[in-house]
Amino acid sequence: MPLVAGNWKMNGDVELAEKMQQTFGATSIENVDILICPPFPYLSSLSSDSFAKGAQNLSQFAKGAHTGEVSATMLAEVGCQYVLIGHSERRQDNGESDDVVALKVQAALENKIIPVLCVGETEAIRESGDFLKCIAAQLDKVIALVGITQFAHMVVAYEPVWAIGTGKTASPEQAQEVHKFIRQHLAGLNSEVAQGLRILYGGSVKAANAKELFSQPDIDGGLIGGASLDPQEFLNICLAAKS
Ligand code: PGA
Repeated sequence: MPLVAGNWKMNGDVELAEKMQQTFGATSIENVDILICPPFPYLSSLSSDSFAKGAQNLSQFAKGAHTGEVSATMLAEVGCQYVLIGHSERRQDNGESDDVVALKVQAALENKIIPVLCVGETEAIRESGDFLKCIAAQLDKVIALVGITQFAHMVVAYEPVWAIGTGKTASPEQAQEVHKFIRQHLAGLNSEVAQGLRILYGGSVKAANAKELFSQPDIDGGLIGGASLDPQEFLNICLAAKS
């Protein structure tokens, strides 16, 4: 079943949380899983059986002297079923390395929170032609730490950095090429896990381009930034994931 996730980033307010709760609280869409990832303060305002909620980050540490950090157990306690890990903005703004990303995935899994592992190449790497190598390296660090079978409890999101918030969506063919590569790369280690894995596309998805992207064979939904801040637009994107 496809998954459509909204990543508010550092946007929104109490009013938006209320609007989302109204729009999605009573509207489950058949055959589409919906995930809303607001900033931490709004997590407790969102709650429904018709959508899941997720955080945008977590600490790799369990507890202790880590001012400003939020642990996996805390997220589980407020009902987070998912957490975004390794978003390119965190890799860039907070210097999160592949090693740290892998530790965060491990922390989420240990607390039964589903990690949405974000991978993607920069524009320079895309132009160099080495983008598949870059994606493989990002995946391999996580595989090395948690093992391939844990991918049965994970989601992967392919988000080319050059397409995030730029309005420059990857073409369905460009996205499909990388999604297929991700699945094949993992299938080399465990084909059952690879077949069952949900791989989301993210980067300037909107209602107008969602259907074409989601119809690609290896695209199992989307990770939506800007367009997820408008409840109606986000709803239309969720509807586009219905097969
Ligand atoms: P965008 O962001 O949809 O605004 O491009 C996607 C993301 O960063 O998750």
